[in-house]
Amino acid sequence: MSDSALRKRKKQTETKSKSQKSNVQETRNEDSELGIDTSAVVWYTKIASIPLLLALGVFLYFNPSAITDAVNAFLGFESEEDTFGVPGVSGDARFIADVEKRDAVVEAFKHAWRAYERDAMGSDEYHPVSQNGSNLTEAGGIGYTVIDSIDSMLVMGLDEDYKKARQWIETKLDFDRDAEFSTFETTIRLLGGLLSAYHLSGNDPLYLDRAIDLADRILPVFETDSGLPMSKVNLAQRKGAPNDEFPNLVTTAEVATLQLEFRYLSHLTGKEEYWTKVEHVMKTIKDARMPHGLASIYMDVETGKFVPSAIRLGSRSDSYYEYLLKQYIQTNYTERVYKDMYDDAIQAVHGHLIKKSPYARMTYTSELIPEQHSNGQLSWRLTPKQDHFVCFFGGSLMLGATITGATVEPVSVPPKKSELTEIGTRDWHTGTALVKTCWDTHDTATGLAPEVVHFRIPEDDIDSANQHTPVDWYIKGARPGEFPPYDARYILRPETIESLFLAFRLTGDVKYREWGWSIFQAIERHCKVETGGYASIINVDEVPSRKEDKMETFLMSETLKYLYLLFEDANVLPLDKYVLNTEAHPLPIFTPTIHTQFANS
Ligand SMILES: *[C@@H]1O[C@H](CO)[C@@H](O)[C@H](O)[C@H]1NC(C)=O
Ligand SMILES: *[C@@H]1O[C@H](CO)[C@@H](O)[C@H](O)[C@H]1NC(C)=O
Ligand SMILES: *[C@@H]1O[C@H](CO)[C@@H](O)[C@H](O)[C@H]1NC(C)=O
Repeated sequence: MSDSALRKRKKQTETKSKSQKSNVQETRNEDSELGIDTSAVVWYTKIASIPLLLALGVFLYFNPSAITDAVNAFLGFESEEDTFGVPGVSGDARFIADVEKRDAVVEAFKHAWRAYERDAMGSDEYHPVSQNGSNLTEAGGIGYTVIDSIDSMLVMGLDEDYKKARQWIETKLDFDRDAEFSTFETTIRLLGGLLSAYHLSGNDPLYLDRAIDLADRILPVFETDSGLPMSKVNLAQRKGAPNDEFPNLVTTAEVATLQLEFRYLSHLTGKEEYWTKVEHVMKTIKDARMPHGLASIYMDVETGKFVPSAIRLGSRSDSYYEYLLKQYIQTNYTERVYKDMYDDAIQAVHGHLIKKSPYARMTYTSELIPEQHSNGQLSWRLTPKQDHFVCFFGGSLMLGATITGATVEPVSVPPKKSELTEIGTRDWHTGTALVKTCWDTHDTATGLAPEVVHFRIPEDDIDSANQHTPVDWYIKGARPGEFPPYDARYILRPETIESLFLAFRLTGDVKYREWGWSIFQAIERHCKVETGGYASIINVDEVPSRKEDKMETFLMSETLKYLYLLFEDANVLPLDKYVLNTEAHPLPIFTPTIHTQFANS
């Protein structure tokens, strides 16, 4: 990005909205300096007594033409070519490893892992600046970093590091910790990591034993009236525990992102309980469907219903959408209910959340925030805010288009127009456009994307000097001389890179490798700690970067694994044989032997 372009965007960032319209449906979300979640819950507590149907009626009332608008918006994408890009053939040079770049990613992994091992081996988390570790609770570590990283070592062929990590799991790992841990994080990072290591190591029984031990400690969380799991689990007492803040609430993402892991464990062990418990959660969600087909971020753990709260593709509901598709893939397309639920949800997303910025026509996803009026009525405010989390969605839509939106199996790479249905074509176009948007949000001083982006809307009063060089997005609350807002951070998140990996595998278009390389170089330049490890940075628009003393475990499990796979030969972990869980732990696709009524309904 040129300096002048950067200045322009910064200028926009500092401009406060002068919109006079108080009742427009699309407004800035002024209460989201710390993210949306607290406001969403405040609203929930205010309006919880209002019948849900009223909320939905109001929502459909204000936006009746949303579906047709979205469809029309996409007609503009049509082109005369008969493929979505340049066709590739198997053995095509574009799918062969870019050895130099791939190996640079392996060096980065070693720089991260070896610093952790040197300073904090066995601790859950690593602080690379102070060079020490910490545990999630005082009861002692649960192998958070080791288990989350071990399958990356197997994929990258780091044998020596792998042996030492395996040794730690064999001799030191202990799940008998008398403290509360997140059900969701423990499942996606630890159960997912152990199951992936089991498969990739050629069925080393150590990992299956540990996975069973962990899963059995988690199972009691499903003992609730609705069958939705409790947010927390005490691993030593084998007991579920509520979320501290809102005891009767669970997030949609946390209950709907346990399924791949428990299902694969059931498939390996033959124990049906692992399967039926997580499947029942999906049935509860299906039964709770709201008329518009979207999912709010909160559900009631007793009634199993959605509660009026924010609707978005970002935090607290992101991986619900991701796992609808992946459950269909994992079971080798045998469980039709997930295809139906996925198609239904994606239709609703197109109808209500997909928007375009006014100038550069960037495709993005909006949020809907419930609001109560003085007369007791509820309405939904459309807020042009997109979490970095949402960047998984572009690649996921492209993948879904080649599966639920395909007329043949498998589709070509890239797909031919005749191979996709109308819906598949729509999803493919939205997906590629969202991947491009996420790449474009790397247009910052560091070349890294912020945690949260706000988009311009027509109601924003943009000064005329900028109208011919419009800037379509900004980091809310960023002001010179002040401490950067939460939204300005980059904490080593993987979602954009995950989408680049999928987009490359599905198209063979080298631009996705180029974008990924550029992001990798920005991480090297701004997040690398010389003495070892990588740190989060607190402001993507500031050079030199200011670091925060934390290396999230998903750097080694996701960010570097997706980068590695982007540059590796496409025959490694092929998409028709593997499904990656939401923490990037690859699990093999299988044909289930359990056949339940729900799955085939
Ligand atoms: C790690 O280092 C930080 C900063 O020096 C310090 O505050 C913290 O107490 C240290 N933690 C441990 C577990 O030593
Ligand atoms: C975290 O727990 C592990 C396992 O009990 C222990 O080896 C390690 O020293 C602990 N780390 C810290 C910083 O207390
Ligand atoms: C998936 O199903 C197809 C038949 O539809 C079968 O040929 C293939 O072997 C199955 N794959 C796995 C991994 O079970």
